[in-house]
Amino acid sequence: MSAMDNAQSKIRVALLFGGRSSEHAVSCATAGGVLRAIDRRRYDVLPIGIAPDGRWVLLPDDPEPLELRRGHVPAVPESAPGVVVPTSTRERGLRVLDRGEMPQELGDVDVVFPLLHGPFGEDGTVQGMLELADIRYVGSGVLASAAGMDKHFMKVVFAGAALPVGPFTVITDAQWRHDPAAARDAVAGLGMPVFVKPARAGSSMGITKVTSMDDLDAAVENARQHDLKVVVEAGIVGREIECGVLEGHDGAPPRTSRVGEIVVRSGHGHDFYDFEAKYLDTDDSVELTCPADVPADIEARIQELAARAFLALGCEGLARVDCFYTEGGDVLINEINTMPGFTPYSMYPQMWLASGLTYPELIDELITLALERPVGLR
Ligand SMILES: Nc1ncnc2c1ncn2[C@@H]1O[C@H](COP(=O)(O)OP(=O)(O)O)[C@@H](O)[C@H]1O
Ligand SMILES: [Mg+2]
Repeated sequence: MSAMDNAQSKIRVALLFGGRSSEHAVSCATAGGVLRAIDRRRYDVLPIGIAPDGRWVLLPDDPEPLELRRGHVPAVPESAPGVVVPTSTRERGLRVLDRGEMPQELGDVDVVFPLLHGPFGEDGTVQGMLELADIRYVGSGVLASAAGMDKHFMKVVFAGAALPVGPFTVITDAQWRHDPAAARDAVAGLGMPVFVKPARAGSSMGITKVTSMDDLDAAVENARQHDLKVVVEAGIVGREIECGVLEGHDGAPPRTSRVGEIVVRSGHGHDFYDFEAKYLDTDDSVELTCPADVPADIEARIQELAARAFLALGCEGLARVDCFYTEGGDVLINEINTMPGFTPYSMYPQMWLASGLTYPELIDELITLALERPVGLR
């Protein structure tokens, strides 16, 4: 086979990463992991970064600069050549626009892999843009992405499907500005502690554990730095157990992984599973264990809830469902992530590894699911 034939028979994947959210660096790190692991015999990879200002740029196929470690926070350079994505169903070709140069055709892509976390990436906006052009992509569509991103509507959907969620209240921007006393009353009704969160963020950004009403206003203001809509939840005492979900092929039910546990050790300055503990953990304050040491019936219960949560939201491709397992033996759903942490060391790939699927196989599986899926309403 000539090099040309070989190139033509490969599936062209555009990796999309970075983005406008506060999880930009995390997304870059994920892209680095995927670039290293993706099967080059099957896939032709186009690394496309989204700069913090939203500019789409073509980047070199090199995982090195994308690594996240203490002292190195990766970012997509705004100066790289711009990439334009079609918005019509007539073309799937991407174009490179370099200042003062003729536009250069990058050719069609078969599938886009949005490795984006947070708003303007994981929330249906990018998915909507790809839908406009009938471009296939990995993961959930517009509605599931948007509802999964918003901790308020996510809970509304779960509660509507009779899935167990903890007590919470929502503080909208209008409420906070015009009637903060009512908002404080609603929070007081939840008891202490509470977790104050931006409705649409991720990686624990903007989240504060509040143990006294005196600290509430500061926590709300902190959350509002990320999103003007704030969700306040009753603190749940329990173990954090997570489950990976993969869409079934051809209408089959979703598949669930072995469950994993996050153990945040006390005495390391992490009050909960915060950003530092998630990504910059150098003191072993956090341990990811999979399979988690829970009774078999509890694992089965979490897997069942995870699959139901996936279906309730109308997810596609993948999702990670995070639960609390309380001392009383109850399981509550904390949240669903439609684009969970996806570095090779992240919980989602680790849970699938413990279930018999390696990281490169998982990447392969997700791309296959995306290619199987019809475009348009489905
Ligand atoms: N209601 C709650 N009760 C107890 N701990 C919580 C609660 N909500 C969040 N946490 C802690 O905060 C972490 C981050 O919260 P989460 O809702 O998962 O936000 P993110 O979407 O940023 O991951 C959780 O992993 C958990 O450690
Ligand atoms: Mg979380």
